[in-house]
Amino acid sequence: MGRKFKAPRGTFDVLPAEGLRRRELIRLTAEVLGRAGYESIATPVFEDTELFARGVGASSEIVQKEMFTFSDPGGRSLTLRPEGTAGICRAYVEAGMHKLPQPVKLLYLGPFFRHEAPQAGRFRQFHQVGIEAIGSDEPSLDAEAILLLEELLASAGASGLRLRLSSLGGPESRRAYVEELRAWLRARSDELPEALRARVEANPMRAFDAKDERTRAVMSEAPTLLERLADDDAEHFSEVRSLLDGAGLEYRLDPTLVRGLDYYTRTVFEFESDQLGAQSGVGGGGRYDGLVEELGGPRAPGVGWAAGIERILLASDARGPDVVPPVFVALEDGSSAGAREGFLLARDLRTRGLSAQMEQSGRSLKGQLKHADRLGARWVAIVAGEEIRVRDMASGDQRAAATRAEALDLVLAGAAR
Ligand code: HAM
Repeated sequence: MGRKFKAPRGTFDVLPAEGLRRRELIRLTAEVLGRAGYESIATPVFEDTELFARGVGASSEIVQKEMFTFSDPGGRSLTLRPEGTAGICRAYVEAGMHKLPQPVKLLYLGPFFRHEAPQAGRFRQFHQVGIEAIGSDEPSLDAEAILLLEELLASAGASGLRLRLSSLGGPESRRAYVEELRAWLRARSDELPEALRARVEANPMRAFDAKDERTRAVMSEAPTLLERLADDDAEHFSEVRSLLDGAGLEYRLDPTLVRGLDYYTRTVFEFESDQLGAQSGVGGGGRYDGLVEELGGPRAPGVGWAAGIERILLASDARGPDVVPPVFVALEDGSSAGAREGFLLARDLRTRGLSAQMEQSGRSLKGQLKHADRLGARWVAIVAGEEIRVRDMASGDQRAAATRAEALDLVLAGAAR
């Protein structure tokens, strides 16, 4: 016997039953984001490894531990994209999109890869939907992006949502603050667990992420970046907040919100759902005013977010869309003339916009009717010698048609009712 294979750890197949809900979510995404002027972009699933080291940040957990990196046969180091923003900013620079009317509003959807320990809601290949608005630092873009994510999550049926919001300020105020925090933490290093000390030395803000009680108690007294924002950053943030307040969106100001990517400046946010377990983040993002320049482009501030498709689906109990019930074309006898007639009838029905399938498995008529029932067919057209009997499965009514055209009309008339 041949060896049986399994999908690699942390990956999964999207089987047809789940596919329908996904398709509906994708349709919704294009609709909600399209209304705000976001247009589709697709970038490669692998990029130059250096792009992520520079874009996402060499000291970030993602770059240090979670990337699927490989050498191609030409010896170049490539990496399966762990996130989308770096690749899109690369494309913005490469295609000279700064020459277009700004901001450029982009929408993307696809697979992403992180070598994390798999658990509920956390995979090694997952899917994100995301937006990036590049080329403007208007606070209205930040607020609009947050409201769009909220609208998408709500219309997808996600429940138990909470929004955390903060600002990281610009690089100057952050640098000064990080120094202050580092000194503050050094003075309390004997209160911190050994393992944390080195990490905190490299990036003191990570200490806000710590899960252990002792560190959390220490950090609850630490100075926060929100209290140290430079005037223009504070003003920007206050405008974002007032737009969100005006729109009636509830959020929790959370100065400890540290996102796992190093490119953020100013606004950062994250939606969580209490429908999810430990991996409660459904979607998040923020502003990245220096990233395009970091990647060799002109000054082009941007803001965006990404949300996990799997997590949105986990957080929502919405069923798939109502599917138009199909017509099933049954064959009373096994004649090839009947099968040809049935084949053409199913095709005619489809070209008229109905969904239609025919018998293709040699079942008995009884078996075919059972199968039609399983498919949820609203009509069954039984090709029987010279006539075609059209049965309405809901009422049980049956009418005979002498020609294929007549059978088509009977179904169409029924469908129009
Ligand atoms: P992120 O917070 O790293 O942000 O990821 C966004 C979303 O992707 C998460 O909220 C989560 O729903 C989903 N996600 C992340 N990792 C996994 C995983 N291992 N398994 C399942 N789902 C996962 C970013 O990626 C930024 N690029 C967002 C952004 C866009 N910021 C600005 N623009």
